[in-house]
Amino acid sequence: MRKIVTIERFILDNQPAHARGDFTNLLYDIALAAKVIAHQTTRAGLVDILGRAGSVNIQGEQQMKLDVFADDVIFRLCDHTGRLCVMASEEREDIIPIPQEFSKGRYVLVYDPLDGSSNIDVNVSIGTIFSIYRCREWETRGRLEDCLQKGRDLVAAGYILYGSSTMLVYSTGAGVHGFTLDPDVGEFLLSHPDIMIPEPPRYYSVNHSYFGRWTTGVQKYVRWLQGLDDSDVSPLSERYIGSLVADFHRNLLRGGVFLYPAEANKLTGKLRLLYEAAPLGFLVEQAGGYASDGRGPILDIEPVGLHQRVPMFVGNRSLVEKAEAFIREYDMAKEEG
Ligand code: AHG
Ligand code: MN
Ligand code: MN
Repeated sequence: MRKIVTIERFILDNQPAHARGDFTNLLYDIALAAKVIAHQTTRAGLVDILGRAGSVNIQGEQQMKLDVFADDVIFRLCDHTGRLCVMASEEREDIIPIPQEFSKGRYVLVYDPLDGSSNIDVNVSIGTIFSIYRCREWETRGRLEDCLQKGRDLVAAGYILYGSSTMLVYSTGAGVHGFTLDPDVGEFLLSHPDIMIPEPPRYYSVNHSYFGRWTTGVQKYVRWLQGLDDSDVSPLSERYIGSLVADFHRNLLRGGVFLYPAEANKLTGKLRLLYEAAPLGFLVEQAGGYASDGRGPILDIEPVGLHQRVPMFVGNRSLVEKAEAFIREYDMAKEEG
């Protein structure tokens, strides 16, 4: 029989001896928020929570009610704990300062409260993505600069997947570990220790309807993944859910590549560097994979804005490097010439 390890036990066992416990407790706070959001997502069809809230977020997208709820739960569970100096959420235009009445802490929390929100009212998996950085400077209350840090400087990142079960997957830079929520006892239990992205990869994931808008390099790369045009690989199967967390999670466990490339009228792609690309890039590197914007590592990009978007290729290193090779050969050569 395997040992039963709760997330609390695992985090405590893995914290350094000199730790003050702030970081450990911040991870607990996130796990608690995950349970509250998971509870609501499973009730989404029961309570009158579906449909549009009527407000539009900074990305110009309609917010679902559950987005607003998830955003609020994370904020309210983390604002008063004394562990954070500032937060930023995909659903809010500006940084979220820690209210003056509460003491400030050493960490920065950046989150996408509900990813894949267009899938909420069709009962398809959705997720939450979180990133934790260290506050750049101890003296001041959190500032924008504290949120604008590159993925390489992450202290931890992870996601919660609200799927056929609820899973929390995270890394503090010492491997990637997955926990499954036992809804009866309300505990996350270690189910996937030391996740490594497997070889050979099985899947590629992309929204094919944009094929005509991609650059030549990306088009040729996708045809290569399909085993066409003198491709030297057998075709990968295609899987695309339209919820990044769910697509990423499947490919992490089965091997594969997810891409959301630039388009002619959307040069930066759709995904956000801070809330989506950097944390998932951090996780995939910890699992032996790689994340690129098509030209270089996503983790090395210095953010200049909270809601900055970036093209993304993420998965097995060999597949992502192949994307870079196609882009170098067909797109970058053309730009230089
Ligand atoms: P969000 O719901 O947080 O705004 O993110 C939606 C994203 C991501 O989850 C997914 O991979 C992508 O949108 C799907 O976009 P397309 O519908 O253009 O394929
Ligand atoms: Mn998202
Ligand atoms: Mn979102």
